[in-house]
Amino acid sequence: MWPYPRLVAHRGCGTLAPENTIAALRCVLEHGFRAAEFDVMLSGDGIPVVLHDPELGRTVKGKGRTSDYSARQLTAMDAGSWFGKEFSGERVPDYEQFFRFCAEHAIWMNVEIKPVPGFEEQTGRVVAQCTKHFLDELRGPGIWHGDVAALPLFSSFSVEALMAAKLAVPEIPRALLLRAIPENWQEMLRQLDAVAIDVSYRQLRPEQVQAVKLAGYGLFCYTVNDIALAKKLKTWGVDAIYTDRIDLFGPDFWELA
Ligand code: G3P
Ligand code: MG
Repeated sequence: MWPYPRLVAHRGCGTLAPENTIAALRCVLEHGFRAAEFDVMLSGDGIPVVLHDPELGRTVKGKGRTSDYSARQLTAMDAGSWFGKEFSGERVPDYEQFFRFCAEHAIWMNVEIKPVPGFEEQTGRVVAQCTKHFLDELRGPGIWHGDVAALPLFSSFSVEALMAAKLAVPEIPRALLLRAIPENWQEMLRQLDAVAIDVSYRQLRPEQVQAVKLAGYGLFCYTVNDIALAKKLKTWGVDAIYTDRIDLFGPDFWELA
């Protein structure tokens, strides 16, 4: 039985809202979905924040690396205007704020650990420790009144970050992000004690999907913005997809496809 959602909104709500913002999570809810992937990195003072790029300039104005700025500075930055002026009030969220919003609205989380180069171990460890802390708080008496959300899934292109997350908090599951599946994928998954591969559909072949499934691992594919492609990947045995376009699919797409 597949324990994770089949359709996961990419970077918050894909291309339907400014990526990795609370507005994106509202957009997920408006479409009747309850699953989001988002990217987490550390500020210069070691606080996890929700951002995709290690350099400023694309979704937030400014120059330099995100690690040149404190969390206080980053979370004051406008992360919505680049997408549309109606989103100009959106700020860079810190991970705690993002996590709490997801938990309160029962949005399943795929937390992509996205270290600024040079901070791989620290990012994996801190994100894992913070996640455990947030979960423990939510589960505490008198704090959490909704359904306790299923555990988040960590993913990363950085083996070092995933290994650090595993050492810090082994009970939170991990998926290895790959652009293509290498020869030694089984060895990599074993080392990380990972539950799944997240891979681009672009170079994926059906026999690779079969091999991953046969070995007992999950297989997520990114970033699938086309219904015919999603149906094809499903017939290959892919378990779940990330999409920028949840509006194309509908929450029960996978069951009906
Ligand atoms: O997890 C799939 C996807 O998020 C990986 O690529 O660059 O969008 O973080 P990216
Ligand atoms: Mg990502």
